[in-house]
Amino acid sequence: MDRITLRRPDDFHVHLRDGPAMASVLADTARRFARAIVMPNLKPPLRTTAQALHYRDRILGELPEDAEFEPLMTLYLTDDTPPEEISRAKLSGRVHGVKLYPAGATTHSDAGVTRISRCFHTLEKMEEVGLPLLVHGESTDPAIDVFDREQAFIEETLGPTLERFPRLKVVLEHITTRDAVQFVEVTGANVAATITAHHLLMNRNALFMGGIRPHHYCLPVLKREEHREALVEAATSGNPKFFLGTDSAPHARAAKEAGCGCAGIYTAHGAIELYAIAFEEAHALDQLEGFASVHGARFYNLPPNRGSITLVREDWTVPETLAFGGEALVPLRAGETIPWKLA
Ligand code: DOR
Ligand code: ZN
Repeated sequence: MDRITLRRPDDFHVHLRDGPAMASVLADTARRFARAIVMPNLKPPLRTTAQALHYRDRILGELPEDAEFEPLMTLYLTDDTPPEEISRAKLSGRVHGVKLYPAGATTHSDAGVTRISRCFHTLEKMEEVGLPLLVHGESTDPAIDVFDREQAFIEETLGPTLERFPRLKVVLEHITTRDAVQFVEVTGANVAATITAHHLLMNRNALFMGGIRPHHYCLPVLKREEHREALVEAATSGNPKFFLGTDSAPHARAAKEAGCGCAGIYTAHGAIELYAIAFEEAHALDQLEGFASVHGARFYNLPPNRGSITLVREDWTVPETLAFGGEALVPLRAGETIPWKLA
């Protein structure tokens, strides 16, 4: 197969940042995706519908003239997000999810949730109005091994939360383990998961290839090969509970190549192309359209996109760096060849 044509896909998890940084990265996402669920972990985070709508305006203001791209906004859940804010978000028609960052779990999560029980009234409202909870699923208990934090979160927090709110729509974001795959498979149709391209393409060895590789560091951190295989199986299975979310998370080069480097991998420059590589390796290119363009929209009750994109089998070289505001970022596969190109 030398050409793949897909219904225009959506990215159900992306970090677009703000200001000049956003201006640098936005076009990469808008060229490939018709819509994207935009993360609210700005500094300060987007806690209210009004803040999310202003951010939406800034995104629209930076779009290239000819772009047809719709940002789908999210709120940042805190210990004291009032249920009324959920009603406002739902009424706006522009807020499509509420992001749960356990406090301290990852980049800009310090204002996140310290104890899920503090949010029960808010979750109750979300369950009532059908606004999905988008979950960064990692335990923040420092005693738990970093490679076990997703599994611990599922057991200790997510499972009990769903028992309490059995109809709450939940997207377990950027899953990284077989445990997460199995959890999503056996729970109801109200629970789904996004999978990144980098977690389909790399296992944790990629962090230490001949030396420490900060540009392969993200959260949740890459896992063992057996987990990567489980993710590939899930993504290519045709199961509508699994869909595309890049978690493309740009950071300036200096912030990653540092004594304490930031978590996040930039993939928006080649997002759908990177997924095509993973699906082709699994002999499942025929499953890419469902994963990238159908399942997520259905979960979020969005109409299917019109139009299509085409990928052609043609080598291109990823630049060593890309502009990022006044700085530079190092994209995934910098300096390497990608065998699929957006037509
Ligand atoms: O690797 C990550 N980067 N994981 C996250 O959860 C946050 C993200 C970011 O915002 O940089
Ligand atoms: Zn993310």
